[in-house]
Amino acid sequence: MHTFEISNEFLLDGEPFTILSGSIHYTRVHPTDWHHSLYNLKAMGFNTVETYVPWNMHEPESGVFDFAGIKDLARFLDEAAELGLWAIVRPSPFICAEWEWGGLPAWLLPERSMRVRANDPAFLAHVASYYDRLMPILVERQITHGGNIIMMQIENEYGSYCEDKDYLRAIRDLMVERGVDVPLCTSDGPWCGCLRAGTLIDDDVLATGNFGSRSAENLAALKAFHEEHGKNWPLMCMEFWDGWFNRWGENVIRRDAQDLADCVRECLQVGNGINLYMFHGGTNFAFMNACSARHTHDIHQVTSYDYDAPLNEEGNPTEKWYLLRDVVRELFPSAWTGEPLIKEAVAVESIECKERVSLFNVLDALSEPVTSQYPQPMEDLGQSYGYTLYTTQIERDIAPDAEERIRVIDGRDRAKVYVEGTCVATQYQEHIGEDIKCVLPAEQNRLDILMENMGRVGYGHKLLADTQHKGIRTGVCVDLHFITGWEQRCLPLTDISGIDYSAGFEEGQPAFHRFEFNLDEPADTFIDTTGFGKGCAFVNGVNVGRFWEVGPIMTLYVPHGFTRAGVNELVLFETEGVYESTISLRSEPLIRHLEKEGVE
Ligand code: GLA
Repeated sequence: MHTFEISNEFLLDGEPFTILSGSIHYTRVHPTDWHHSLYNLKAMGFNTVETYVPWNMHEPESGVFDFAGIKDLARFLDEAAELGLWAIVRPSPFICAEWEWGGLPAWLLPERSMRVRANDPAFLAHVASYYDRLMPILVERQITHGGNIIMMQIENEYGSYCEDKDYLRAIRDLMVERGVDVPLCTSDGPWCGCLRAGTLIDDDVLATGNFGSRSAENLAALKAFHEEHGKNWPLMCMEFWDGWFNRWGENVIRRDAQDLADCVRECLQVGNGINLYMFHGGTNFAFMNACSARHTHDIHQVTSYDYDAPLNEEGNPTEKWYLLRDVVRELFPSAWTGEPLIKEAVAVESIECKERVSLFNVLDALSEPVTSQYPQPMEDLGQSYGYTLYTTQIERDIAPDAEERIRVIDGRDRAKVYVEGTCVATQYQEHIGEDIKCVLPAEQNRLDILMENMGRVGYGHKLLADTQHKGIRTGVCVDLHFITGWEQRCLPLTDISGIDYSAGFEEGQPAFHRFEFNLDEPADTFIDTTGFGKGCAFVNGVNVGRFWEVGPIMTLYVPHGFTRAGVNELVLFETEGVYESTISLRSEPLIRHLEKEGVE
């Protein structure tokens, strides 16, 4: 049996060991590609894979657990072990990671008196019941049990959020009580305030730092913090940011490959371990993107989690991969390195739309109506992600040609308002609540409000904000009064197989557009959504993520694992009434240049 210890260095089987780790989030990469990514990590000369564990994927509903398919954490770790890779697991209840609500399940939100990421018994009870299912998977894969997990993290960058050590200790205890016995760590920004707030250094939990440049300076700050607490510990960068994530409406952020290689070299010359964040970023499939919190205007993150990482979104090596392999060869001449695996993506031109149908004509195939006096937020209806449709009738109380006033009070994130099936307004967070003026065409008018949850924030104090409750929170006013008597439709779009495409199509309404394309064999490809407004795409029934004409990324990556030999179905759910009669698949991503620069 192997051993891993933390002394003044990392010791593997009693020998000094440099952790050369890369992050791959298994839920962002199709399982048929796990081997490809892990092999490419190994071939770059690295010895360890790091992954977060997103709670909201594994417990989609309270008490309902799922560790299958793309959520098969055990298989991911075992595939890494088969390649001889060690593993660092960060199972924190909160993971940040540009993942919806930082991985916290949205079904926690209706418990309004509960505080997440705090020493609150109600929150800890939910973590405990989740850990009852999760920890057995990890415990038997620890190095102490003959497995490949060498270290686990408590929480995530807690010093960027709070300083409640009792909470951190409670999370540690929940892990240890369930059999976790490998060394534990925390990770934080390597400056004094963050480290003081987020670490458990006096409980002998290794403090690591997160940064992406000025390696020597950052590691010196980490070392000083260790020394202040009487520790002579190894220095590890738990997140060496080699690129960055992207947001809608902002240019793609790139980092110079040579600059990265130089900073990584410096980190390895001074420190004892590095984890490249990310090694392979992958994709925020379905609705799993998060949102960057801002003081006034939160900005949602895109579907691709390419991250400008050493492997691109598809999993193929970039210039960074080759330069980092050179760094390994220079600093660790005895490390095994190899040639990377490379996949090819296919292109299919101009696929004709076979049929299309308006959302309002297929609601029964997608949802059950729920009635209530006032509109209910999405989570109170038992829904976590996607769209919610609110419908009522409004009477015309004014002259036929006079304008009526409609207001959505406390809605998130985006509202599309329809009167008698015609869109009268599209409002975002900064305008929701403002007057929508329109002439009501009939005595009795159907009012539909389609609310989109564009992704909850993944970082900072806004995790606790009311705005993380999606849909309509307070109500809808017409004239000056709240309207009562609502029908609600939860539209998580987890199963679109029952849609009848002959039910009718109206211009300008949200609709499903269905295409078919043929492949000789399963293949990677990129859906070019140019010409379509906003929505999400389904390949053979699987939601591969959101698209939006604002850019910058105009394509959606489809891993070969979602495709098949023969006929494949592609459905675009599009909410703006902006569509084309054909669609193309590309062999590489299409990225537009925008005026607005992305910022880190
Ligand atoms: C922090 C978090 C990560 C991720 C990065 C940015 O370091 O710990 O989960 O959000 O920022 O990509």
